[in-house]
Amino acid sequence: MNIFHISAECYPIAKVGGLGDVVGALPKYQNKLGETSSVIMPFYNNKFTQSHTFKRVFSGRFNLGRPFGFDILTLEDNTLGYDLYLVHIPDLLYTEYVYSSNDTERFLGFQIATLDWLVQLKEQPNIVHCHDHHTGLIPFMMSQSYAYHKLRTTPTVVTIHNGQYQGWFSHNKIHLIPPFDFSKAGLLDWKHLINPLASAIKCAWKVTTVSPNYMEELKYAANGLEDLLRYESGKCVGILNGIDDKIWDPATDDNLIQNYSIKTSASGKKANKQWLCKEFNLNPELPLFAFIGRLVGEKGADLLPEIFNNSLVHKNLSIIMLGSGDSSVEHQLDQLKYQHPGYYNNYIGYNERLAHIVYAAADFLVMPSRVEPCGLNQMYALRYGTVPIVNKVGGLKDTVRDFDDNGFGILHDGATVHEGSFAIFRAINFYNDTDRFKKNRNLIMKIDHSWDSSAQAYINLYNSLIL
Ligand code: GLC
Repeated sequence: MNIFHISAECYPIAKVGGLGDVVGALPKYQNKLGETSSVIMPFYNNKFTQSHTFKRVFSGRFNLGRPFGFDILTLEDNTLGYDLYLVHIPDLLYTEYVYSSNDTERFLGFQIATLDWLVQLKEQPNIVHCHDHHTGLIPFMMSQSYAYHKLRTTPTVVTIHNGQYQGWFSHNKIHLIPPFDFSKAGLLDWKHLINPLASAIKCAWKVTTVSPNYMEELKYAANGLEDLLRYESGKCVGILNGIDDKIWDPATDDNLIQNYSIKTSASGKKANKQWLCKEFNLNPELPLFAFIGRLVGEKGADLLPEIFNNSLVHKNLSIIMLGSGDSSVEHQLDQLKYQHPGYYNNYIGYNERLAHIVYAAADFLVMPSRVEPCGLNQMYALRYGTVPIVNKVGGLKDTVRDFDDNGFGILHDGATVHEGSFAIFRAINFYNDTDRFKKNRNLIMKIDHSWDSSAQAYINLYNSLIL
């Protein structure tokens, strides 16, 4: 089966969040299962594209208010485990960042160029799999735009990684979409705006979300799309993400200070913790709590300064925070360094290597998310023997079970300062129950969240669409 994933992000080429991790892993695992799964994404001006060489496989031109030329590029030397196609539109996409203020035009151009290329391929795709709203107009264009008539019968799947963002734009830009029968314009609309995510839900053959629980939640909280998702629920399904267990393996991860397996987890984690604590002036004898991620409301980041402050007054834990985002949250967190020297420290920014070390070094990872479609960090934590402390939402609810309920992690019911602080209090008691805590660490490292079974679930879904 010839599958094309179309996405704004794909690790290691360009990643802003979990979307990049998923699109960088899923095709690899689908290929391992014997399919031909490739990725199409924009050609950005970044480290990856600067340090690799590419060859051109197609050139074209399209209109978006004015004419734009584009090339489809592929890697000269590819060790990614899937074919990668990059859409190079010098005047639109070739920037150092992934997202910006003129994303309507940028991603429309990306989607049009992608379809201009796909439609003329000798070997037509069997499945076109779109990710998030940036590629949400593809199912509409494939089924309605005259230029893509040949792709009308190709099944489309759209995966919602985050339903909060929908890519809305005004109807006065409708002429930018390649010509179609105007009586079908309603398929683009939701509440008087062109809504790419809503259009994808209406037009795609199947809609997936990245965990089963998130699919249910969206029917009641989807930033305005609740009715639509309830109406279309027959074609909607939640498939839990996996993690790339080759990249995320403490036994081979060369970012770590010391590698470790289940057998050597105690000494391995200790070595990483000692290094990190030295680097950040923290006490390695205390349980180490970590937060890794974007400092935004969805992740509950605004709660962290108070949760941390409440916990730090007892001087019985160390905390490391790695992330960036909302500047007022950044500032409040940074202040904690001066209020609790030796017990709290942070790295404001993003650092992939440091993130790996933090997963290895920490005893607990906190995720007080308000919204978490799947969440990958809790799965990385488990694999590295770190206990996740999570709010009971989205995919967190599907992947973490409380240690007081025959489980292995800590769940709290609600993204509030009180719930978050109490969860940390429970975690410290758990940590002090040394034998149980050690046994639990070995148990969580065994949990298999690799992509194998989810990659197969997507293939089963595709097969159900191929006539
Ligand atoms: C988004 C979601 C996150 C999910 C990821 C990958 O970043 O916020 O929960 O794990 O996409 O699907």
